[in-house]
Amino acid sequence: MSLTDFQKTILQGIPEILPNPKPFDASLNHAPKRKDILSNEEKKLALRNALRYFDKKHHAVLAPEFAKELKDYGRIYMYRFRPDYKIYARSIDEFPHRSRQAAAIMLMLSNNLDYAVAQHPHELITYGGNGAAFMNWAQYLLTMKYLAEMTDEQTLVLYSGHPMGLFPSHKDAPRVVVTNGMVIPNYSKQDDWERFNALGVSQYGQMTAGSFMYIGPQGIVHGTTITVLNAGRKIAKNNESLAGKLFVTSGLGGMSGAQPKAAVIAGAIGIIAEINPKAVQTRHSQGWVDEVFTDLDELLKRIEKAKANKEVVSLAYQGNIVDLWEKFVKENIHVELGSDQTSLHNPWAGGYYPVGVGFEESKEMMATNPELFKEKVKESLRRQVSAINALAKKGMYFFDYGNAFLLEASRAGADIMKPNGDFIYPSYVQDIMGPMCFDYGFGPFRWVCTSSKPEDLDITDKIAIDVLEEIAKTSPVEIQQQMKDNIQWIKGAKKNKLVVGSQARILYADAEGRTKIAEAFNNAIRSGKISAPVVIGRDHHDVSGTDSPYRETSNIYDGSKYTADMAVQNVIGDSFRGATWVSIHNGGGVGWGEVINGGFGMVLDGSADTDRRLKMMLFWDVNNGIARRSWARNEGAVFAIKRAMEKNPELKVTLPNFVEDKLLENLF
Ligand SMILES: NC(=O)c1ccc[n+]([C@@H]2O[C@H](COP(=O)([O-])OP(=O)(O)OC[C@H]3O[C@@H](n4cnc5c(N)ncnc54)[C@H](O)[C@@H]3O)[C@@H](O)[C@H]2O)c1
Repeated sequence: MSLTDFQKTILQGIPEILPNPKPFDASLNHAPKRKDILSNEEKKLALRNALRYFDKKHHAVLAPEFAKELKDYGRIYMYRFRPDYKIYARSIDEFPHRSRQAAAIMLMLSNNLDYAVAQHPHELITYGGNGAAFMNWAQYLLTMKYLAEMTDEQTLVLYSGHPMGLFPSHKDAPRVVVTNGMVIPNYSKQDDWERFNALGVSQYGQMTAGSFMYIGPQGIVHGTTITVLNAGRKIAKNNESLAGKLFVTSGLGGMSGAQPKAAVIAGAIGIIAEINPKAVQTRHSQGWVDEVFTDLDELLKRIEKAKANKEVVSLAYQGNIVDLWEKFVKENIHVELGSDQTSLHNPWAGGYYPVGVGFEESKEMMATNPELFKEKVKESLRRQVSAINALAKKGMYFFDYGNAFLLEASRAGADIMKPNGDFIYPSYVQDIMGPMCFDYGFGPFRWVCTSSKPEDLDITDKIAIDVLEEIAKTSPVEIQQQMKDNIQWIKGAKKNKLVVGSQARILYADAEGRTKIAEAFNNAIRSGKISAPVVIGRDHHDVSGTDSPYRETSNIYDGSKYTADMAVQNVIGDSFRGATWVSIHNGGGVGWGEVINGGFGMVLDGSADTDRRLKMMLFWDVNNGIARRSWARNEGAVFAIKRAMEKNPELKVTLPNFVEDKLLENLF
């Protein structure tokens, strides 16, 4: 399709004339059939809801078609309206627009639906099995039209993918405000999501899926590398590296697909089980995993060789993770590091495939016999934990990887609890990410070059290295390791070929690093060194963005980890300090009802106005979370917030006093 036709198509939104129905493309990875949860009356309501996007004259054709989609897939995706043009992160000015900020958002959301990036592109699912950008194609078409038409005096309001419309605002306001899955707390169980989503009124936006900030698996490679490296440092006896040591885990999906790459960057032997052959094939063809095995004995032989030669390599096992763990126990294989990244935030609808049930059979069972499927998942989790426990007894360091593994395993009755009610294994945030990164303000800062040119990305990499090296010269000892790891990461980023989709980069940085890098980018855009605006943002999985008691805030020990004030304050604060778009979600990572998380995107266009905004917003966006972590008595955060106050006298944060333990003894 020519560029002009593409632009015309965007501007027409939902087409006047019905496009032809589209055949189901079996070559793509599709979302599993969702549970049949609606009553017949509710199904009519779902149809009424879907048909309100279309002129009445089309209803007679669309009603039976949508009813069939609901029956066949458990959702109404409106496949017929999927556009014919290729959806990807084009260069910013290819998107028709009146606001360049809006055009940048079009680029970002297109990236979330790119076939090379999205997990189930035809179902508008970006990652995590149910992490949706939109619920249906009508929402996508309308949103793109609104973005193309809007000016910098308007704000687009998105309710769980539904574009409520453009509302007058002002140039300093966000161009888009996104809410995803924001239901009343009492209606936040897994089945509530199934019901509301099937009705077309609420969606699971994961973290960066529904907020258009996904940058493919690279987004998580850096965090995973930091985690594996530091897990390695934890088990090292004499400061030795991970060479010849095994890191065993599961999942080659959206995020989990980063694990083999991260294992290799960290210098280990990565072994990853993945049940879905399409996911294995995708990651193998992208070079993210080196070798694939379907036979466990063959795999074991290869592992032996890799261990003996201290190879740095990643090996995929195409099969169930439980079979892999049990094989290791049976053959008495010594595993140094273990984790899991199946999508257990979504255990009953395709996030986890139980052992002993075939992949296709599972898909069928979860839709037709959900109760039996649930039992199979629970039994599988119990078996998985027994095998992990056996290996942990022999010295494996196992950690939960933020996918609700411990939570769901405990709910399944697995042997995973201490007598005091804590889990026997830590989460990676409790042991690593929280105390070493988040408490000091380090988190997954990222940027996207809207020219979509690799040359621009190279320039930004170079700028970021220069900025960090300058900061590192005077960094206090408490954060020197983090600075060193991040500089090493960004120096190797290009070589590690991390880009899938938009020209994006992730780099863990603290408030100072983020601000100085963004400022330097803005200057380079102003001088023409970078050819087009740059979008900055971050994963929601960050210092301040996410309240999640089993993940991001699992190292908050003052009893407040079940509150969500930080995430809500954060998004409100970002929105009036200059973010180009903001989002707040229920669910993300660990499941619907288990987490509140938010994010932002900001378009750097080289203007002086942007300089003002980026400083104001990034300072808040990081220090809000440090202040909360400091109030929770986390020592790294107390250090970091005091340092921030010294640097900016306008910041005045309430500091905690520490009470002597012995004073509290014998009081109750
Ligand atoms: N640690 C982190 O920083 C982090 C970040 C984001 C997400 N997560 C969580 O990790 C999980 C995975 O995320 P994702 O985006 O990769 O999801 P995904 O659904 O794309 O990938 C999970 C993969 O696990 C596979 N799988 C499921 N059951 C299996 C089994 N029994 N054996 C082998 N393979 C199995 C699935 O086929 C799928 O490909 C999610 O719960 C997510 O929320 C963790």
